[in-house]
Amino acid sequence: MRERIKFWSALVSVLAILAMVAGCAGPSTPSGSPTATTSTPPPAKEIVIGVVAPLTGEAATFGKSTQQGAQLAADEWNAKGGLLGGKIKLVVADDKGDPTEAAAAFTRLIEQDKVVAIVGTVMSKCSLAGAPICQAKKIPMISPTSTNPKVTEVGDFIFRACFIDPFQGTVGAKFAFDNLGVRKAACIFDVGNDYTKGLSEFFRDKFIELGGEIVGFEAHPTGTTDFNAQLTKMISAGPELIYISDYYNDAGLIMKQARALGFKGYFLGGDGWDSPDLVKIGGDAVEGGFFTNHFSKDDPRPEVQNLVKAYTEKFGEPPDALAALAYDAANLLFDAINRAGTTDGPAVRDAMKAANFKAVSGQITFDANRNPVKAAVIIEMKNGQQVYKATVQP
Ligand code: PHE
Repeated sequence: MRERIKFWSALVSVLAILAMVAGCAGPSTPSGSPTATTSTPPPAKEIVIGVVAPLTGEAATFGKSTQQGAQLAADEWNAKGGLLGGKIKLVVADDKGDPTEAAAAFTRLIEQDKVVAIVGTVMSKCSLAGAPICQAKKIPMISPTSTNPKVTEVGDFIFRACFIDPFQGTVGAKFAFDNLGVRKAACIFDVGNDYTKGLSEFFRDKFIELGGEIVGFEAHPTGTTDFNAQLTKMISAGPELIYISDYYNDAGLIMKQARALGFKGYFLGGDGWDSPDLVKIGGDAVEGGFFTNHFSKDDPRPEVQNLVKAYTEKFGEPPDALAALAYDAANLLFDAINRAGTTDGPAVRDAMKAANFKAVSGQITFDANRNPVKAAVIIEMKNGQQVYKATVQP
């Protein structure tokens, strides 16, 4: 027994001496480098983070805003000294708004670029393609804006920075019923898109629960540009409001075509309307339309106004909800890595779960399904501009 103790204490002393020697040697320099003998510091360690967004395709303004929001967050962290002693490097991949492209982008970032975590992606249908890949590889993923409930249900490495569509649909239905006094509504949506289909269903169910009547529920295939068949049918049933859960490009066309068919009622939609291109596509038809969103740049809270200032200075345009949520998602992730003290996937996941983060779009803590519980805002389109109407708490 005593022999054993002696052996272990001798081993501990040897290790202690080795550790001291290693410590005295200072930072290691790249061997064979001509500057090895000078005092040049070693290249700073990089923390490589993936960003996936639709930079091209049916909703390209979403991708631009997302990339810019994440970039601003990384630049701010790097200006303050970086993360875990290294600089944050973002590698951005285009999912083109297509689930197959999204799966390829997630795989490429993980396998080739060796990212330690991913901010992305925007559309729920694309996040649903990327999430199983992150879950299998134990790479934490945080979608800034994918609101369909199924996204985080994929597994415990999947988070989001936004509220989910059962809440968004409820906020829309209550606004229509209580504030606009509507009793007859119709819905139109893209049947090939989990987000638009889900959101119309959540709106419908809540509107009926409130005592309203749904007089039309029309699906259209992805890529439709002529909505006259669906609109003619639903308008003939006499809705006072058309709920359009489509993204801005389709929503703009639908409003235009509905007005051309003589529809005089309200238009209401979801976060997918948030784009400077909505008015470019829909023109006057968008006037007086309402939509639910995550953020308004007119919110006077200092966090919002600081972002509006920094973002506008850097990119020459104010942030939309996608930019704000990408900024929030990236900051939340960097904060979790910082608290974890490592980029190890399971440790970052655990730090994310414990987050209590003051984000621009509201305080973020996660529920059991890794969804934040957050307020929504209602926006009205007036003179071609977004005008903040109200904040609705969960
Ligand atoms: N919520 C949309 C989706 O899940 C994406 C989106 C968010 C679009 C915010 C615009 C603004 O597909």
